[in-house]
Amino acid sequence: MTSSSVKSSSVNSPAVTTHLTVSCIGGGHLGTTLCRLLLEQQSDIRISIGQLLNNSFESSLKAVEFIGDGSAVKDRERLKPADLWLITTPDNAIQEVCEALSESGVLAPGNIVLHCSGSLSSKIIRLPDQQCYRASVHPIHSFADPLISLSTFAGSSCAVEGDDQATGLLNQLFSSIGGNCFPIQSAQKALYHAATVMACNNLVALLAMSKQMLAEADIDQGQQDQILNPLIRQTVDNYLNNTDPAAILTGPISRGDHNTVEAHLDALSSLSQWRNAYAALGEVAVGLAEQQGYASDDQLEKISDLLARATDY
Ligand SMILES: NC(=O)c1ccc[n+]([C@@H]2O[C@H](COP(=O)([O-])OP(=O)(O)OC[C@H]3O[C@@H](n4cnc5c(N)ncnc54)[C@H](OP(=O)(O)O)[C@@H]3O)[C@@H](O)[C@H]2O)c1
Repeated sequence: MTSSSVKSSSVNSPAVTTHLTVSCIGGGHLGTTLCRLLLEQQSDIRISIGQLLNNSFESSLKAVEFIGDGSAVKDRERLKPADLWLITTPDNAIQEVCEALSESGVLAPGNIVLHCSGSLSSKIIRLPDQQCYRASVHPIHSFADPLISLSTFAGSSCAVEGDDQATGLLNQLFSSIGGNCFPIQSAQKALYHAATVMACNNLVALLAMSKQMLAEADIDQGQQDQILNPLIRQTVDNYLNNTDPAAILTGPISRGDHNTVEAHLDALSSLSQWRNAYAALGEVAVGLAEQQGYASDDQLEKISDLLARATDY
């Protein structure tokens, strides 16, 4: 069954929809995993995979083999009708792919066009001539190895936004594969995504910086790991046991030790990238220390002044 099964009334009322055809443009790490999970889910909605279109036909064939359903297609002109269009190309191709899809004439009223970018909202999907619904669902999961993701996806949070007529059904579908769906405002997607980058990618960068600073202090690599690993583990455990950051902050800023902070900034005086990072994060720590109330206002003001004077920007 194809688009005839998803009239706008059935999209509004997911329980009415029993069979959806999902076609995927950009079947890479995430796209193939989602297609296979959707295919194998056991909810009231039965899924068939329609077509897979990648940059190269070989890549589309590989995606079909992994998913176990659907057919590989060589170009956009050969696309056939589907109910749900999963656009899972890299972010910078989404808009162009959606425009081409819109111009292809294959879309039908009531179709859902969905992308999975973390930072972009559904508003980048422009479908001027169709009565289709637009949405984005960002699964907070690393799809580095699709085979592993098949068994680890359940429990991942999924940020959902877009047209109301689509989000109800998508909440149902992503919940059926184990996603913890939550709504996100379209205008807040970039900020939301930046927050997840801070907790994941930038945390890695921060740990890399910490190691580089130890190396600069002439501490060899084996010793660096012995110093940092227990500290990192303990800090992350403390955070996971009590997710109020003000409850777990320790160290010189928490204690109001402005002389220590001054010594750190002096040691970093010729290393501006590290000093700027230290000062920016230190300002956040001052805010937490104010909530804790261990250090006096006077001590925290001195620290804040030192940090402000230390930055290059
Ligand atoms: N990977 C993750 O962990 C993750 C997590 C959350 C969200 N996301 C989001 O998921 C989306 C896909 O990411 P990914 O990591 O799965 O990407 P990916 O593994 O690089 O796969 C992208 C796929 O898109 C195809 N493609 C590229 N440009 C295309 C075009 N113009 N037309 C048709 N197909 C095209 C590629 O085809 P070829 O193979 O032929 O080059 C490839 O199969 C992105 O929006 C990303 O932000 C990813």
